[in-house]
Amino acid sequence: PRKFAVLGNPIKHSLSPRLHALFAQQTGLLIEYSKQCVEPAHFCDHVKQFFASGGSGLNITLPFKEQAYALAQSRISNRARAAGSANTLWQENGEIHACNTDGVGLVNDMLRQHIILRDSRVLLIGAGGATRGVMPALLQAGCAHLHIVNRTEEKAHVLAAQAVALADRQTQVTASAFSTLQGSWDIIVNATASSLSGQILPLADSLFRTDSVAYDMLYTTDGDTPFLQQARNAGATHTSDGLGMLVYQGAESFRIWNQIEPDAAPILTALRTELT
Ligand code: ATR
Repeated sequence: PRKFAVLGNPIKHSLSPRLHALFAQQTGLLIEYSKQCVEPAHFCDHVKQFFASGGSGLNITLPFKEQAYALAQSRISNRARAAGSANTLWQENGEIHACNTDGVGLVNDMLRQHIILRDSRVLLIGAGGATRGVMPALLQAGCAHLHIVNRTEEKAHVLAAQAVALADRQTQVTASAFSTLQGSWDIIVNATASSLSGQILPLADSLFRTDSVAYDMLYTTDGDTPFLQQARNAGATHTSDGLGMLVYQGAESFRIWNQIEPDAAPILTALRTELT
């Protein structure tokens, strides 16, 4: 069987091996997919060794997505270049190639839920690697206004400047701290680590409307997070955790590696059932 792995640190709780086993089963492929915890100093050697010993593809997770991007500098997809990070590696003609499927993963999961990005007002919370990974795809999906809000305001402005360079002229891009955040938003995406630590973000109820969508890129076993609870308390009726994003980014990696497109929706249902 072809060999795959996900590299990260920590990696113990990764669902990727299970996810890809489900894709392989569905598409009738025989694959091996392991999870490997890597020390930061050994990341590059680990990747090179994996491909040298016949490995076919790697998923890369925290904290290595930027390093993975740097490692493949000459064979980078536009998606990875725009994000400045990579979560999918493979080798062709002896060269390591990189792509970032996180943004497509988010957009495709939104599509599944009939969340319309085109011409919408999107509030993106956070200005770290997670935000950088999905920002290009949100812009490409044609949102009318993208606002980046972050605890450290400066980082939001840096990302907004990058977004302006990526966006077409129709898209308005702005940034602020939480304290000056205004308006109401069609789609509010949490790309911070706040839900991991159970912390509540300083978001006014008026940012949410009943028809606003709240999407937390984090996933949990029960599909709920502090951010999503906060959104519902403020009146939002459509909330989603990030399990679908995980499944759809994995489906895109699987497609790149195996040239077969899995049907992600039933896999998401299966994974959710397994988690609960
Ligand atoms: P990642 O690569 O996962 O995005 P990161 O680069 O460390 O991780 O970024 C984490 C993001 O979560 C940042 O936007 C961070 O805000 P700061 O830039 O001000 O640090 C945000 N974040 C983390 N914990 C938070 C909290 N409790 N409240 C608000 N924002 C938080």
